[in-house]
Amino acid sequence: MRSQDWFANPARPDMVAVYLERFMNYGLTPDELRSGRPIIGIAQSGSDLNPCNRVHLQLAQRVREGIRDAGGIAMEFPLHPIFENCRRPTAALDRNLAYLGLVEILNGYPLDGVVLTTGCDKTTPSGIMAAATMDLPAIVLSGGPMLDGWHEGRRVGSGAVIWASRKRLAAGEIDEEDFIAAAAASATSVGHCNTMGTASTMNAIAEALGLSLPGCAAIPAAWRERAQYAYATGRRIVEMVEEDLRPSRILTREAFLDAITLTAAIGGSTNAQPHITAMARHAGQTVTVQDWRERASVPLILNMAPAGTHLGEGFARAGGVPVVLKELARAGLLHPDRMTVTGHTLGANIADAADADGDVIRTVAEPLLPAAGLLPITGNLFDFAILKASVISDGFRRRYLERPGAAGVYEGRAIVFDGGDDYHNRINDPALQIDETCILVMRGAGPLGWPGSAEVVNMQPPDALIRAGITSLPTIGDGRQSGTSDSPSIVHCSPEAAAGGGLSWLRTGDIIRIDLNTGRCDALVDEAEIARRRAEVPPAMPASQTPWEAMYRAHVGSLEGGAVLEYAVEFQQVGARLPRH
Ligand code: FES
Ligand code: MG
Repeated sequence: MRSQDWFANPARPDMVAVYLERFMNYGLTPDELRSGRPIIGIAQSGSDLNPCNRVHLQLAQRVREGIRDAGGIAMEFPLHPIFENCRRPTAALDRNLAYLGLVEILNGYPLDGVVLTTGCDKTTPSGIMAAATMDLPAIVLSGGPMLDGWHEGRRVGSGAVIWASRKRLAAGEIDEEDFIAAAAASATSVGHCNTMGTASTMNAIAEALGLSLPGCAAIPAAWRERAQYAYATGRRIVEMVEEDLRPSRILTREAFLDAITLTAAIGGSTNAQPHITAMARHAGQTVTVQDWRERASVPLILNMAPAGTHLGEGFARAGGVPVVLKELARAGLLHPDRMTVTGHTLGANIADAADADGDVIRTVAEPLLPAAGLLPITGNLFDFAILKASVISDGFRRRYLERPGAAGVYEGRAIVFDGGDDYHNRINDPALQIDETCILVMRGAGPLGWPGSAEVVNMQPPDALIRAGITSLPTIGDGRQSGTSDSPSIVHCSPEAAAGGGLSWLRTGDIIRIDLNTGRCDALVDEAEIARRRAEVPPAMPASQTPWEAMYRAHVGSLEGGAVLEYAVEFQQVGARLPRH
């Protein structure tokens, strides 16, 4: 055991007592710590500052009991909090910060394996990124979604109800009190967002990667099974340490390809793109634009908001991720022979899963949508961006994408905003003459520009258009959009404007042409004019407000590359060597 280098190292008897003594002051004995039992870290992501993950404060007790019963010793420690909705200027800054912190903890302390407690959006990728860098045995315990919310006799999911109510607020249909009541009705219990937003997406992806026990992702936080999974997860990590079952055996290229396939099938968040890319790169694997393109044709088979109607409870009752994986495997869309944390293959894990119920989970033969993946887009405004096809409304499809003679082609006048404040200040300005053919563009919202990359690309139309029944316009931006929003958006434009990408020279009034048949998006501006504008427009970037923002900007890459700290990718299998005394 790695931990025995601290606690029972015959070469350094002078150090052993120093390492041991303070652990005794909460009652551990030297015999326990020197017995060669696996010492298991519980990476605690729950706190008062991360309410989405707060259930883990209780679940940790069951994890500990599982670890003990399997012969291990538990050591729980806090992670840097990541709370999507409250963290300014954006929780995206925290993913890489929590990653760095966890790598240091796993490297620097006497731990043999780790339970990653996950939930809110970025808690999942940050933990997996660190486990990949270290390559110590690791298992994911999801916290689970909140119970379903109900408002005015209808099921309402997190995020989606906020976007919908914001539009009703803008249209003058409800007041602020109604708005807050609708939001509160969607936040029913302990747990993370209960739509297929980023949190549910990333926990489903962790399970599909093979990093959590089968069925773990979808169980609501408040169900008894959640605490039972906590216990089983604690037991299993001890066995994994004894089997030396490390992430490098699980996080293969095939695992990440299957994660991309799953994302399409569940109508997952656009944020899956940078997070899958980041996890893969830290695991030493490559996923390419072609890999995303090939899986854009995977059908949507999960009927869960925002692409469908059900919420977390319905998904869990239908059997959760194993049922989706079984259906995809049956259609030959997965790699079932790869290793998982159970010590068995993915195919073995899902062999006994229920069949698709035909309502919450559809079959590949009768999907909700035929091609639901995240579609990579390129053109003269950016080298890379993605579009989420599964949430484009039927109305939008009919109005713009299925016009006779121009199917899939859309041309509109660009309305360009520099960051969220500029959008809020000017969106209702009549001088912009925004009509139902315009395309809203957000720049300065990428990893460098914001900094961190913000979920601000899903802009709603001006109030006057909403009152006239136009509830969404196409949007383009170098930031991200919330995993629960339903606007037809092209997001993650890379390189971003602040890095000199094409959005930096785009101007309000330019015509943008989007062709979904060819996957291109171009501004109809000629080369000479582009060159002239490039020479005169320096990319805008607000000053860094904290030391971490400055350090983040010095090392972060594009959303195309996962917005990782680029130098950190060089560090692979760090746990193979012990740190010096
Ligand atoms: Fe934390 Fe959605 S805000 S899970
Ligand atoms: Mg989000």
